[in-house]
Amino acid sequence: MSDPIKHTMLLVDDEPGITRSLQRLFKSIDANIFTASSGQEALILLENTPVSLIISDQRMPGMTGVELLAKSRQIRPDAIRILLTGYADIESTMLAINSGAIKYYIAKPWEDDLLVSRVMESLELFDMTTDNKKLNEITHRQNEELRKFNRTLEERVEKQTSEIKSQHEELSRSFMETIKAFSTILEIRLKDVGSHSQRVAALIKKLLKTMNLEKKEYQDIVVAAFLHDIGKVSYPDALLKKADGTYTRSEMEIVTKHPILGQSCVIGINGFEEIALIIRHHHENFDGGGYPDFLRGKAIPPGARLIRIANAFDHHAFSKGYPDKKMLNDAAAHLVRESGVLFDPEYVKQFIDLDIARQYYHHELAETIVLKTADLENGMVLAENIYSNSGMFVLPKGARLSSDMIARLIKIDKFDHISRGITVYKMNKTEKEAYEPVQNSIG
Ligand SMILES: [Fe+2]
Repeated sequence: MSDPIKHTMLLVDDEPGITRSLQRLFKSIDANIFTASSGQEALILLENTPVSLIISDQRMPGMTGVELLAKSRQIRPDAIRILLTGYADIESTMLAINSGAIKYYIAKPWEDDLLVSRVMESLELFDMTTDNKKLNEITHRQNEELRKFNRTLEERVEKQTSEIKSQHEELSRSFMETIKAFSTILEIRLKDVGSHSQRVAALIKKLLKTMNLEKKEYQDIVVAAFLHDIGKVSYPDALLKKADGTYTRSEMEIVTKHPILGQSCVIGINGFEEIALIIRHHHENFDGGGYPDFLRGKAIPPGARLIRIANAFDHHAFSKGYPDKKMLNDAAAHLVRESGVLFDPEYVKQFIDLDIARQYYHHELAETIVLKTADLENGMVLAENIYSNSGMFVLPKGARLSSDMIARLIKIDKFDHISRGITVYKMNKTEKEAYEPVQNSIG
């Protein structure tokens, strides 16, 4: 603990002979000694001088020793108090002692040894009390600092967590933007396919939302839906113009390789292993009659089985342009007909139950309107593909506009005009809100 302080003692008695003899008695004690001849004088002195010990006589004119010692508590609460009292006064001093104001009372005439020993004990007690108080103060201060540190730490952790979270979200957004950019590149090469992949991804998202998947699994399947036909970039131009079922044997060889080529396009990307696998198997049939590996049933990755369905539905529905109700019903009927043969029957049931086709119906006979980008509204559905002045494909027919997409269109319009305007279906407010986007961002 701290170095011992030199003590100060205050002796109070109206008889100077008594204070003098006490001073002599305490000569051997290493302490400063002050004296006062009355309670009043003692109080003034206490105001200006810190003391460890007060020894006061009880019988004094003006103020008794008990009164002085009680008042001294207000000024020097830590000082030890000893009362010197005649035998006759003991009764009247007991109350003061019990109240804790006085540590000892010593009867006059005192025994020198007893008094010196009481004084020594009192000074030690004062030291201990002072040390204890300092320790408490240090502990209190350290606790306070610790509390403050913890508060700061919590705030810092919270701030950093939120920064990491927003960085993560930003990264995730950039990642998805990149995937969509790939999908658009694919569109530039194979116009129909590009829109097709985006529609398939939108359908897949609707199916997945009913499935309670892990985030990674969900994302892998959506990304695979966007990129499932990326292997078709290798198709020769002549093959691009041909419809399904009209391929020659050598063309069919190229067609059946596009899933493997698609897989090899993305396999080198870190974390794309599952995506690559889904792409490889998106033409496997549930009965084992597909390609490239003739996998069957549950051996086909779930993502590939889902994309197989959304892919077939979209190809069927859009085979003669933007689908009418009949085409949509035919596409749904095709899924049911081939359930268990080409498609996983459980997933077909889920797809049909979602009644995806219903979302196209109300556009069937809807009127269209041409708007500037600035006049577009959230929820509107494109009635025509959007191309910029330079011929860049921007968004496919059937896309439902989100505020993000509108912001992007406005941005594109600024540097590469969409001069023909944007053709959308006329819808009332309820219609805009009633249907979820068939085709939207990947999010
Ligand atoms: Fe394909």
